[in-house]
Amino acid sequence: MHISTTTTGFFAIAVAVAVSQIFVLVQAQNSPIQSAPFYLLLKSLNASLNNAHLTPCHEGAAESALCPTKAPLTDLTHSQFFYNTTNPASDSYPTGILTWNLPLGPSNNNKTIFVSQPMLFQYNDASNVAVPIIFFGDPTDVEFGADGQMTILQFRDDTKPLALNSNYTAHLSRWYVCDTIPTWYLYQTLAWAMGKAKPQNPSCQKVEVYRKWA
Ligand SMILES: *[C@@H]1O[C@H](CO)[C@@H](O)[C@H](O)[C@H]1NC(C)=O
Ligand SMILES: *[C@@H]1O[C@H](CO)[C@@H](O)[C@H](O)[C@H]1NC(C)=O
Ligand SMILES: *[C@@H]1O[C@H](CO)[C@@H](O)[C@H](O)[C@H]1NC(C)=O
Ligand SMILES: *[C@@H]1O[C@H](CO)[C@@H](O)[C@H](O)[C@H]1NC(C)=O
Repeated sequence: MHISTTTTGFFAIAVAVAVSQIFVLVQAQNSPIQSAPFYLLLKSLNASLNNAHLTPCHEGAAESALCPTKAPLTDLTHSQFFYNTTNPASDSYPTGILTWNLPLGPSNNNKTIFVSQPMLFQYNDASNVAVPIIFFGDPTDVEFGADGQMTILQFRDDTKPLALNSNYTAHLSRWYVCDTIPTWYLYQTLAWAMGKAKPQNPSCQKVEVYRKWA
């Protein structure tokens, strides 16, 4: 079972941090090559979302959703992301994970400590809308095109008869911005439509997501 909406909020920060040590160790080995920092920029036909940036918005202890904001970049401290990948030569599907440095507050010498967290989808069995969150757990692979667009690699098209070992690939952009409640708080967040159908959440608006180097 995925981390449920009810349990995530109860993690004390200390527990989350302890858990993070394990995930960080595991994931640092899986996706150790980290890109330069970048912002995530939305493109939308709706002018109020177009050119908005995504910023991590607090959803629970050590858990954030990705919320659009038109605040100037100078105000968006802690809104830079990274792309962690494996060695592309050793990976037949060179995708990677979106990561963010969670600030853990000042340590003894007043320097903020950060812990790297991956983006993963929070699934709701009753919905076709998944919510990307920044938390500890099994990351959701993403990829960036030459134009910087963030997509998800589809390597099997189950709308057609399946063939073993087929070479099918497509680069999907099923991103939306919707009103969601990943854990505790209702926010307008980035979301992903599962499958080809439109999201069943009526608040969803279509967006595309682009990487803009910091
Ligand atoms: C991303 O890569 C950096 C550099 O290797 C590493 O320190 C960090 O733990 C990685 N993050 C995740 C979530 O794997
Ligand atoms: C555009 O987005 C804003 C913010 O989500 C929303 O309030 C508004 O209804 C949207 N406009 C249209 C035409 O969908
Ligand atoms: C940390 O900041 C506090 C408040 O500004 C200050 O009193 C303290 O001396 C600082 N500690 C160190 C180790 O710099
Ligand atoms: C997949 O691609 C490889 C290399 O191009 C080719 O040798 C193989 O026959 C293809 N397999 C299928 C099932 O199309």
